[in-house]
Amino acid sequence: MSTAMPANTYQPKGMLIDGKWVGSVSGAHFSVENPAKRKPITDVPRAGAADVDAAVEAAGKALSAWKKVVPRERGKVLLKIAEAIQARVEELARTIALETGNALRTQARGEASMTADIFRYFGGLASELKGETVPLGESVLSYTRREPLGIVGAIIPWNAPVMLGALKIAPALCAGNVMVLKAAEDAPMGVLMMADICQQFLPPGVLNVLTGFGPEAGTALANHPRVAKLSFTGSTEVGKIVMRAAAERIVPVSLELGGKSPSLVYPDADEDWAVDGIVNAMRFTRQSQSCTAGSRLFLHEDIFDSFLKKLEKKTTSLKIGDPLDEASDIGTIINNKQYTKVCKYVQDGLERADAKLVFGGLPPKSGPLSEGYYTIPTVFADRSNDWRLAREEIFGPVLVAIRWSNEEEAIRMANDSHYGLAAYVWTHDIGKGLRAAHAIESGWVQVNQGGGQTPGMSYGGYKQSGLGREFSLEGMLDSFTQRKSVTVNLTV
Ligand code: NAI
Ligand code: MG
Repeated sequence: MSTAMPANTYQPKGMLIDGKWVGSVSGAHFSVENPAKRKPITDVPRAGAADVDAAVEAAGKALSAWKKVVPRERGKVLLKIAEAIQARVEELARTIALETGNALRTQARGEASMTADIFRYFGGLASELKGETVPLGESVLSYTRREPLGIVGAIIPWNAPVMLGALKIAPALCAGNVMVLKAAEDAPMGVLMMADICQQFLPPGVLNVLTGFGPEAGTALANHPRVAKLSFTGSTEVGKIVMRAAAERIVPVSLELGGKSPSLVYPDADEDWAVDGIVNAMRFTRQSQSCTAGSRLFLHEDIFDSFLKKLEKKTTSLKIGDPLDEASDIGTIINNKQYTKVCKYVQDGLERADAKLVFGGLPPKSGPLSEGYYTIPTVFADRSNDWRLAREEIFGPVLVAIRWSNEEEAIRMANDSHYGLAAYVWTHDIGKGLRAAHAIESGWVQVNQGGGQTPGMSYGGYKQSGLGREFSLEGMLDSFTQRKSVTVNLTV
C-alpha cells in the first residue's frame, strides 16, 4: 500500500466503520499526496454511496446505547481520548505536516495539541447538558431535556483537518450523538489516526470515518435519509449544496465557511507588535490557508509606507521549506489545484495597472522550492477594495493593502464583503478599538492580537461565512442537541 513513509508518521489501515478497518465496497481507492514532493505517500479507500450506507447503518445501531450512557461517563471517554492523543502528539503532528504541507514547528504541532485540548474541553462539559424547569403553576411540572439529534453527518476540509474533525466529533459525541465523518480527500491520514485513537475507547459504530471525494461520498452523506444533522466546514460554494440537502429533509445544519477578513490599522499602531500581529492574523505560516486569514489590510494613509516596510522585513525573514524540517516557518499549499489558483491570483495582481507589488510574487520555477507546492508571501498595494483580489477568498499568502484616511470609510470598506468571519483591529486607543470592533460585521473581532481560536469561545460566521457556532458549550448545545419539553399534570 505505502511507499516509503517518513519516521514516526501514521500508516492508515482503511476506513473506520462499525469499529473495524475496512476498504470500500467497490474496492476503489486513491492516493494521498505529499505536497512538499508532489509524490504519493499512501492509499486510502474511495468511499461511495454503499460505504456511506454501511457507516450510517453502524451508527444507527450504536445510537440507542450511546445516548443512554450517563453524560459524565461519555465525558470521561473523551478525557481518555484526549490523554491518548496527547501521548502520541508528535506522531500526529508529523502526519499532519506530511499530508497537508503545514510546517511542523509553526503549525502542525499546535494543531495536534489543540486536538487533544478540544477533547479535554468537551469531556469536561458533559454535565452541562442541562435542561430547565418552566414555572407553569403549582399543579404543573414542566421541564426541558437536551436530547441528542441522532446520526450526525460531518464533512471537513484539509486545511486544519484533525482539529476541525475534533471540533465536530467531541461535542457531538459528548451530547450523545453518533457520527459518520467524511475526511477531506487531500488530508485523511491524521483524521484516521485520530479515529484510531478514539476507537480504543468508544463502542463500535459511535464514530465512523470515511475517506473519499465530495461529489461521491460527500453527496451521499449529505443526502442520506437517516442522517439527522449536517455539520460542514469548507467552502461557501459547497456549504450551499449541503444546506440545500438539509432543506430537502428539514434537518438542522451547521456551516463554517470562508472569509475575507479585514485588518484595520490605526495610525498609532505603526509598531513592531502590530506588524507581528498582522503576520499572525494573515496566517502566513499556514500559507494563509485559513478561513480566518486577515487578508484585507486597511492601513491609515499616514503609516501606509512605513508599516509595509516593516511588514516586508518581518515577512521576508520567514523561512520557506520542507514542512517536516524544524527550521521551516512556512510549508506548502495543499495541492496542485489550489497552487495553480493562488498563482493565478498573483498573476492577476501583477497585471493590474492600479496594483503595486510591495513584495513577493510568483513562486520560483527551479530550485528546491519548485519541487513542492511552495508559494511566497505576497503583498499588493491598491487604492480599491473592489477588485477580485480584495473580494475573493484566495486561500493562499496573497495580502491586499488598502489605504484609508476616514474611519467611517474604513469601516464601510471592511464591511463591504459577503463574508463576515473574523476581523482584526490595531490601536492603543481602546475606545476607538472597541467602537470599530462593534461596528464590524464579523463573528469574531480581535483587538491587538491575531491568534487562533481557543476552546470556550463561540466561533462562527456572519453573512455567508456560516451558520451556527463551534468551539464552545453554547455551540455544543445549539448544534448537537434538541430540546424536548415535558409537561406533567400534578393534580392526578
Ligand atoms: P471544498 O469545500 O470543496 O471541500 C471541503 C469538504 O467538502 C471536503 O471534504 C470535500 O470532499 C467536501 N465536498 C466537496 N464537494 C462536496 C459536495 N458536493 N457535497 C458534499 N461534500 C463535498 O473545498 P476545496 O475544494 O478543498 O477548496 C476550495 C476553496 O474552498 C478554497 O480555495 C477555499 O477558498 C475554500 N475553503 C475554505 C475552508 C474553510 O475552512 N473555510 C476550508 C477549505 C477550503
Ligand atoms: Mg471543491
